[in-house]
Amino acid sequence: MGPLWSLGALLCLLPGSSLAQTVRVLDEVTGFLGQEAVLPCHFVKAAPDSKVSQVTWMKEASGRKQNVAVFHPEHGPSFPMDREGTRIRFRTPSLEDTTLVIGPLRLDDQGTYFCEFATYPGGNQDGVTHLIVLAKPTNTAEAHEVKVSNLEQPVATCTSAQGKPPARITWQSSLGGNTSTSEVTNADGTITVTSQYRLVPSKEANGQRVTCVVEHKSLPQPETLPVTLSILYPPEVSIVGYDDNWYLSRNEAMLTCRADGNPMPTEFIWSTSSGPLPKTVTVQGGNLLVQNVDASVNTTFICQATNRVGQVATEQVIFVRDRPARRQSGGAGALAGSIVGGILAVAILGAILAVFLLRRRRRQREQRGTKGSYDPKTRVFGNGTAPPPARDFAELDRPLKATPGRRRDEDEDDEDDYEDEREEQRPPPYGYAGHHHHRFEDEDQLGPMLRLGSALHGYEYDDMESQHDGSIISKTAVYV
Ligand SMILES: *[C@@H]1O[C@H](CO)[C@@H](O)[C@H](O)[C@H]1NC(C)=O
Ligand SMILES: *[C@@H]1O[C@H](CO)[C@@H](O)[C@H](O)[C@H]1NC(C)=O
Repeated sequence: MGPLWSLGALLCLLPGSSLAQTVRVLDEVTGFLGQEAVLPCHFVKAAPDSKVSQVTWMKEASGRKQNVAVFHPEHGPSFPMDREGTRIRFRTPSLEDTTLVIGPLRLDDQGTYFCEFATYPGGNQDGVTHLIVLAKPTNTAEAHEVKVSNLEQPVATCTSAQGKPPARITWQSSLGGNTSTSEVTNADGTITVTSQYRLVPSKEANGQRVTCVVEHKSLPQPETLPVTLSILYPPEVSIVGYDDNWYLSRNEAMLTCRADGNPMPTEFIWSTSSGPLPKTVTVQGGNLLVQNVDASVNTTFICQATNRVGQVATEQVIFVRDRPARRQSGGAGALAGSIVGGILAVAILGAILAVFLLRRRRRQREQRGTKGSYDPKTRVFGNGTAPPPARDFAELDRPLKATPGRRRDEDEDDEDDYEDEREEQRPPPYGYAGHHHHRFEDEDQLGPMLRLGSALHGYEYDDMESQHDGSIISKTAVYV
């Protein structure tokens, strides 16, 4: 016996419509496409002398009643609409229980059914049942691999196929994307609903989860389909491991090329700004090993990473020293040196403090004149290894202007504009403040500051390279 689908219907058998209430049916029966529906119908004798001569099930479709099934106590059952009797039958053919079973259901079985008893002396009496045929949709959701772009486009699609009535699709996400939904009616009368989740695909959206929620009459609760977005973006490359203390005859120095991207770049190509790699280095995937530091590695190393979306290179300027940097050696000489350096630093600090106080007093005088409020700008120092500016420096007159790092992208053309545009918003990968160039309007003013900053940490002023255009490039890492 097939399942009795009776969603939404009152389960009690309701009285029929006539006064001598004797036909009991369900108001509404819900069945699923391809399954069976059971339409109960019982005759309850109101009077002991009442006689039933025949039962007829009729279906009303487009304003016309058609006989579906007839039961006669002598002639037995008959199914005028289903001559072979394969889809329609009585559950237990009798005059008291004329429950009808239809299945496998088709969508056109939906309609209003009348269970009519021909009685004597009461005449015809009937009960009415609405049969609703639902199609349970098949729900799927998938992500589309799309490249980062500044154009909104679908990044995921959710489909609820062959449902009836059409499913309702919504999306859950924190990404604030837009959705567009369309419906197609299939040949069998079912409806396929397709919903697209649309975004301006960004690197940040990669790996994020959006959830498609499908609501349908056939589902006791909404079905949720999580989708993990896949936004393709070119490699983001950085070289790490340079400790700024490569000196002649040092053993074991290493650079590591790190790259992020979707898909993840796995191939790294090392070179130098002057062409091929020096003989003294060995490459192991992302690692560049120097067994013995010599003048041949006094160059700029370039690591290039490639994935399906693009090819990006980053360079690292290596400065080979004649001797280890002061901070590295622990000898007595170095100690003395650092003491001297320390005293010197304190002296310079004092001098700068004095200059600062003087300037401040002057500014205060000026401010009293203009009555404007002073907004100290945050300053960033170009070299990742330089100390953060002391509080005193943070209030020097002129803010330093940070210009975005340059970077050589060999992406496809349509990516280029976008990359340039994004470069300004993107935080430098791996937190390398050193990827940015900082332009100083007054180099003379800055020179002593940098010298001081470097001296405090035992660095040479040479760690920074003054350029004739007034910018200072960190030697630690530079975007190309
Ligand atoms: C959604 O669409 C609106 C209007 O078309 C657009 O302004 C907005 O940027 C879109 N949102 C996203 C996340 O793409
Ligand atoms: C490395 O090159 C710089 C100039 O780029 C030079 O000043 C320095 O002396 C060189 N180091 C060695 C060990 O040759």
